[in-house]
Amino acid sequence: MTLSWLVREYGEVSSTQEVAEKLALGGAREGTVVLAERQNSGRGRMERHWISPKGGLYLSIVLRPGRVGGVQLLTLVGALAAAEGTRKAAGVSPKIRWPNDLVVGGRKLGGVIATASTRGESLEFVVVGIGVNGNFGRDELGDLASASATLKEMAQAPVDLNSLRSRILEEFAVQYEGWGRGEEMKLIRLARSLLSTIGKKVEFKPLRGRVEKGIAEKLEKDGTLVVRMVREGLRLRAEEVEWLREL
Ligand code: BTN
Repeated sequence: MTLSWLVREYGEVSSTQEVAEKLALGGAREGTVVLAERQNSGRGRMERHWISPKGGLYLSIVLRPGRVGGVQLLTLVGALAAAEGTRKAAGVSPKIRWPNDLVVGGRKLGGVIATASTRGESLEFVVVGIGVNGNFGRDELGDLASASATLKEMAQAPVDLNSLRSRILEEFAVQYEGWGRGEEMKLIRLARSLLSTIGKKVEFKPLRGRVEKGIAEKLEKDGTLVVRMVREGLRLRAEEVEWLREL
């Protein structure tokens, strides 16, 4: 499985995720990338809004992995690509806050989302969306400003969004192809080295239930996070956690 990119560039869109999903439903091939300068209805995890002013990087990738097993790791593939690509293009080295946040000094620099479309038992396509706060100030992010970081503020010079995009896509192809060959452990090892969360006290909000506290212990092979609670260990699956933060 070799990925080749077909990048479609837009000015303003609702959400690159939405556009990519529509294209995928219409038969767009694997490797189609929807790239936009800005989004007016950017989507975050758990139906949150992703504020997307001009100057950020917003892209969504159409994948047709052909297998369902291990597909939950594709969010991690996106997060690794975004972290490594940002390091190479901008000289800023984000960590990954499980499951899908890119963080610098505890503040959120970017995020990854993955949506899957199935028909019956089979997987039709997955769209992985990546957003990185680029050449704008945190004040553009409203209420989220104090918990956010932008490359403009972290790097010494404005970031070249074209090279940021290319580096992220390059990294994505490497990790995705590895995943396709069944090299999950390589992926997990790299993710472990980039996770900000391990060994830290964390609190998290399960989808149904109240906020809990524990110590993040380990990223498992299937992408779940083991959190040690007072009495027992708990395995967190990304889709069951609304948010998680370090204490
Ligand atoms: C999150 O941290 O909650 C995930 C944020 C993902 C944002 C990106 S920006 C490009 C793509 N299009 C969207 O509407 N969302 C993703």
